[in-house]
Amino acid sequence: MSGVTQLSALTFEVSDLDAWAAFGTRVLGLGVAEQTAHRLRFRHDRHPWRIECLPGPADDLARLSWEVVDRAVLDRIAERLDRAGSAVTVGGVADCAERGCEALVRFLDPAGTPSELVCGVPRVEAYVSRRVPSGFVADDLGLGHAVVAAVDKDTSVSFYRDLLGFRVSDHIHTEFHGHVVDLTFLHCNGRHHSIAMPCPPPKRIHHFLIEVGSVDDVGAALDRALGAGCRIINVLGRHPNDQMLSFYAETPSGFQFEYGWGGRLVDDTDWTVETYDRISDWGHTPPPFLKHRPRRS
Ligand SMILES: [Fe+2]
Repeated sequence: MSGVTQLSALTFEVSDLDAWAAFGTRVLGLGVAEQTAHRLRFRHDRHPWRIECLPGPADDLARLSWEVVDRAVLDRIAERLDRAGSAVTVGGVADCAERGCEALVRFLDPAGTPSELVCGVPRVEAYVSRRVPSGFVADDLGLGHAVVAAVDKDTSVSFYRDLLGFRVSDHIHTEFHGHVVDLTFLHCNGRHHSIAMPCPPPKRIHHFLIEVGSVDDVGAALDRALGAGCRIINVLGRHPNDQMLSFYAETPSGFQFEYGWGGRLVDDTDWTVETYDRISDWGHTPPPFLKHRPRRS
């Protein structure tokens, strides 16, 4: 089935653009693609931009942007969405110019998260970050991944699988620090997952992933996060399913980012869907001092 090929971009509505400008560059090591009083865009690979911050009070995910290979596939998926009862809006010339693509359609996912399919996003010279010498793992594997809201997990999984063309990678069913965790992970290219769900309310997003090319660059990012006063949520650890070695910390908007290395690739010709009984093989525990630490304002 023709489907989405990658997570193309994430748009966030943020209450403090200046804080995000400093955080994105100094902590995440991203490059600024565009910065005005009304919009901040970051890049980290050959896409013109990957993360967009728009000013507003929500401090939450404002749009998921998925890339497809061409206009024919975009039209085919839009038709499937329409037949399934999703309200699909076709982007006009001005929308495409603002987004930086040839064509786009917009819709809501089952949790109500604004989403879009785009095609014809140009590629530019690769971004080179002095803070991340090993480089970012992105390009054809997409921006990274996002763990997002789902009102009903089965409905959301069916939507992403049957309409957008994702494949289920695996599941994690366990208890984590007193909370039941029942996550499903889906992929649309070799990256183990580009999306997973559900995240706990109230936000539309729990975290997004930035992957880098060396474990040292994860350690350096942890140093930068600590130096910048980011609230560390989970110390270094390794997930059993995607095998990502990573840490989690808060963005200036309160939702989290994961910064990792070593993610496993999926080969659809030889893949068995498993259910894991743990979130991490080791680590990823909250720092013991977290509950005593004042929250960043
Ligand atoms: Fe993650």
